Amino acid sequence: MPKNIKKIGVMTSGGDAPGMNAAIRSVVRACAYHNIECVGIYRGFDGVIEGDFKEMNARSVKDIINKGGTVLKSARSNEFRTKEGRKKAFSSLVNAGVDALVVIGGDGTFTGALIFNEEFNFPVIGIPGTIDNDIYGTTHTLGYDTALNTVVEAIDKIRDTASSHNRLFFVEVMGRDAGHIALNAGVGAGAEEILIPEEDLGLDRLLDSLKRSKQSGKSSSIVVVAEGDKIGKNVFELKDYVDENMPDYDVRVSVLGHIQRGGSPSCFDRVLASRMGVKAVETLLEGKTNFMVGLLDNKMELTPLENAIKGKSEINLELLRVSDIMTT
Ligand code: F6P
Repeated sequence: MPKNIKKIGVMTSGGDAPGMNAAIRSVVRACAYHNIECVGIYRGFDGVIEGDFKEMNARSVKDIINKGGTVLKSARSNEFRTKEGRKKAFSSLVNAGVDALVVIGGDGTFTGALIFNEEFNFPVIGIPGTIDNDIYGTTHTLGYDTALNTVVEAIDKIRDTASSHNRLFFVEVMGRDAGHIALNAGVGAGAEEILIPEEDLGLDRLLDSLKRSKQSGKSSSIVVVAEGDKIGKNVFELKDYVDENMPDYDVRVSVLGHIQRGGSPSCFDRVLASRMGVKAVETLLEGKTNFMVGLLDNKMELTPLENAIKGKSEINLELLRVSDIMTT
């Protein structure tokens, strides 16, 4: 028989992402709606260990749906990786009367939550929050749509300089292990080439493609490079390579960096966060544990945390083909 849940803890962990606040708001308000108590936990698993909790009600989360970052702060906890740390975390939760956790984060967060459940039989549900969109079991993670819009807006501005000065720009975007941001923002921003870790284009093909576009009359180009791309050691080495092999090109590099993680969430991310928070709370109240809520076929679906961690979020092959056609 599942334990009767009367108080839920909500926390954010790992890299922040736009929409995390909207998800916190949704969890808190869904708890209030179902007459369940809710505590906000600060600084991810570190805050669980230290009992850094704050009782939250529907009004505590006013005016945060539009804010980037996370009002609960985020951290990557080393202590929670130890059995001793997790024991302390369990005591803190029991002392505060917390019966279940909603964790908002990426696969590192879900791994910690799953181990915690296995050791202490503590109910946990995950909400995928990362701009990288690299989580299996959802077509969209929180923050991904906002990051795409940020990147497209930035590349539109870079394009002004590229075309005014007949330059080639390498624009590096985030995505440590995944090319979702690069591929989607690259197509959206009309990039000449898109380099992603899932597809090894190779330096020769890159040069061929750039030569072809020069011959076809293009005077400027944007190449979007995912941070985790394997083609060159880094984006500056790509520049050096093209400088050497195509001296007629005037090449620049622009690394967009953490501006992609910040900012007010898009409408899409706010709505997604609201849906995920409600689904997470109601899943716990149904007595379920160890699931991640996700968006599949525009419905809220549950994926076992284990699968969400181990599964691979595949790149959209149709979009890859569209991108190739667009660059002819
Ligand atoms: O996982 C999200 C992400 O933005 C990655 O794309 C990037 O590699 C990483 O976080 C950067 O992390 P940090 O802010 O810790 O440097």
